[in-house]
Amino acid sequence: MNERFGGYQNEIYLHGLGGAYPPCSTDATKLEASAQQVLGAGPFSYVAGAAGSGATARANRAAFDRWRLVPRMLTGATERDLSTTLFGTRLPAPLLVAPVGVQSIVHAEAESASARAAASVGLPYILSTASSTSIEDVAAANGDGQRWFQLYWPSDSDVCASILARAKSAGFSTLVVTLDTWTLAWRPSDLDQGYLPFLHGEGMAIPFSDPVFRGMLEKTPEEDMPAAVLRWIGMVTGTDRTWDRLPFLREHWDGPIVLKGIQHVDDARRAVEAGMDGIVVSNHGGRQVDGAIAALDALPGIVAAVGDRIEVLFDSGVRTGADFAKALALGAKAVLLGRPWVYGLAHAGEAGVRHVLRSLLAELDLTMALSGHHVLADLGPDSLAHT
Ligand SMILES: Cc1cc2nc3c(=O)[nH]c(=O)nc-3n(C[C@H](O)[C@H](O)[C@H](O)COP(=O)(O)O)c2cc1C
Repeated sequence: MNERFGGYQNEIYLHGLGGAYPPCSTDATKLEASAQQVLGAGPFSYVAGAAGSGATARANRAAFDRWRLVPRMLTGATERDLSTTLFGTRLPAPLLVAPVGVQSIVHAEAESASARAAASVGLPYILSTASSTSIEDVAAANGDGQRWFQLYWPSDSDVCASILARAKSAGFSTLVVTLDTWTLAWRPSDLDQGYLPFLHGEGMAIPFSDPVFRGMLEKTPEEDMPAAVLRWIGMVTGTDRTWDRLPFLREHWDGPIVLKGIQHVDDARRAVEAGMDGIVVSNHGGRQVDGAIAALDALPGIVAAVGDRIEVLFDSGVRTGADFAKALALGAKAVLLGRPWVYGLAHAGEAGVRHVLRSLLAELDLTMALSGHHVLADLGPDSLAHT
């Protein structure tokens, strides 16, 4: 059965009359501004902020604006199928919930709320290593949902192996290894407030619940939180890895492995040579390298080089159904949604995340319909004009 995501429109028209629904705007480009009203200054800046002058984050959005959909008529697009298959598993739509750390700074129910929301709409949930909720608790909240695990690669091999084993046994199917954040970028919006949530023990649930990590500490995190925080931060920041270290991950993970943060064609080729299963073309939403290429501008060249040999996923700057369609038309197999659902979490917890996900699915579905596309394979370079 193909789901009719566009039907959310009617649901809102019918139930929204009472004024209680929807919980936040149906326009994801407006959610940053409204989230600022409900979040404290530190958490808001942490989510909305970017590296340096913000040039990369702006470039991500500007790149989407330069591409325009060219709608087709009389194609009979009444019935649509947005489903796709990734690593042998069917997805109802080409949308995944991007890994986002420290969700406790946004909402008390944090990752449990977003993992429940993802499962309720059937989309894969990618859990961050910087989670404020343990691997096992997120798995319980996610239930029968599809879940992937994102790794910030600890320099201690035993701790790394322990975390991977826990993720595997908690039902996380695919490993996403984030390469672009081996140390934190210069982020003036956080620096100007001296705000880093990790230093307050937020986003530490995975190491703090890890038996191998705990075994290395002189005092437990409950007895001496600052020492445990510093030990962990020293393990996950400050040390870059090299391509020859990837076999370690293969040894400890028997499912698909996806490298996140690829922006150069040669790195995409190296990912193929290293036997990886997928890549995410991403600049971390402009949070790491200021003045970097827009992720969307990097996408077509990478798809041309490796798209037939590896799954190419995409994120950074996606805010509308049209943005999804554009990234898919430029060759992404599926797209990760970042900040918009985090703003949904800030507004209304699980219901807010579900609303944002359903809104974008509906908008993509209706964009497909009204531009004359029945299935994702109909979207291609012919669907777009560059202006
Ligand atoms: C507050 C916040 C926290 C994030 N935490 C992580 C993380 O823990 N791991 C990771 O791989 N990416 C993380 N990201 C990056 C997202 O996965 C994604 O690449 C990015 O949000 C895409 O850009 P966009 O939000 O502009 O669409 C984070 C992004 C934000 C906004």
